[in-house]
Amino acid sequence: MKVLITGAAGFIGMHVAQRLLARGDEVVGIDNLNDYYDVGLKEARLKQLAGLPGFRFVRLDIADTAAVADLFRRESFGGVINLAAQAGVRYSLTNPHAYAQTNLVGFVNLLEGCRHGKVGHFVYASSSSVYGGNTKMPFSEHDSVDHPVSLYAATKKSNELMAHTYSHLFGLPATGLRFFTVYGPWGRPDMALFLFTKAILEGRPIDVFNHGKMQRDFTYIDDIAEGVVRVLDRPAAPDPAFVKDRPDPASSWAPWRVFNIGNHQPVELMAYIEALEAALGRQAEKRFLPLQDGDVPATYADTAELHSATGFAPATPVPEGVRRFVEWYRGYYRA
Ligand SMILES: NC(=O)c1ccc[n+]([C@@H]2O[C@H](COP(=O)([O-])OP(=O)(O)OC[C@H]3O[C@@H](n4cnc5c(N)ncnc54)[C@H](O)[C@@H]3O)[C@@H](O)[C@H]2O)c1
Repeated sequence: MKVLITGAAGFIGMHVAQRLLARGDEVVGIDNLNDYYDVGLKEARLKQLAGLPGFRFVRLDIADTAAVADLFRRESFGGVINLAAQAGVRYSLTNPHAYAQTNLVGFVNLLEGCRHGKVGHFVYASSSSVYGGNTKMPFSEHDSVDHPVSLYAATKKSNELMAHTYSHLFGLPATGLRFFTVYGPWGRPDMALFLFTKAILEGRPIDVFNHGKMQRDFTYIDDIAEGVVRVLDRPAAPDPAFVKDRPDPASSWAPWRVFNIGNHQPVELMAYIEALEAALGRQAEKRFLPLQDGDVPATYADTAELHSATGFAPATPVPEGVRRFVEWYRGYYRA
């Protein structure tokens, strides 16, 4: 299959591309290599892909309507995986327009490309943050997600809604994946594990928000990449059990679905830090701070739907995943 991956120089994009290439798919990767975080890390990820047979990179901004339309006119894709986004909850409080451009304008451009290019399956990144102020655990796709607490979350929820209209109007099979705190080698410098590791190795204190009373359903990158590929291979189909006068938020009469993709095992932030301290062989100096605006104290994924649709079963325990991250971090920055 020929697959378009947007955000291919990103953390999840690089790993998903590697997995598709390893099984012989052709991958066109696009990315605008923006400087939200270290561009050198994005370029290094692309170098990992550059030599692999079947990979091509095109530098392109998904918010550029003409360029995206042109790409879909030139090339024909069996599947599209949209991982390009302005990510990060906290940054959306200070730079809202970056989110509107990439996550809304860019997303519509891709939907249009998929519509006119007759793409077989559009898979896109949503986020656990769509659960917003919900406190019922674990988070289920059958729950309403109408109360986001950050603009980032609101754009992800909007993606799910926009995708639904294209599934309904144009029969585009579309699946949204709500990722739960992804971590591992080649991870993002703006996320806790990276920030903590860097600070501890430099002898600086780490910022522990909500005074450490946080839980996250940390999900290892290889499990995520495996889940994304399983989903790609199973295009969304209409749900014959869907009843319009009792609409289930998890499905539709249209070929549209959303899935949680998480570890189904929330871990206390302090236990995550302990796993990191063990992997580094160093104690962290902790600065306890209140919960940040836009953030939520806990996430916990109900993954029964994804399991029953694809057999997805995450396999990496947090201490092992953290150990592999530290090994990568030390190797990468030593080099
Ligand atoms: N990592 C997580 O824990 C997590 C959790 C929930 C959701 N997500 C979502 O998963 C997706 C991938 O996340 P990630 O962690 O790999 O992030 P990332 O920032 O590492 O990757 C995103 C990539 O998209 C590129 N990009 C951004 N705007 C673009 C544009 N306008 N045009 C082209 N490329 C653009 C960036 O340069 C980057 O390389 C994102 O949609 C993110 O919101 C991630």
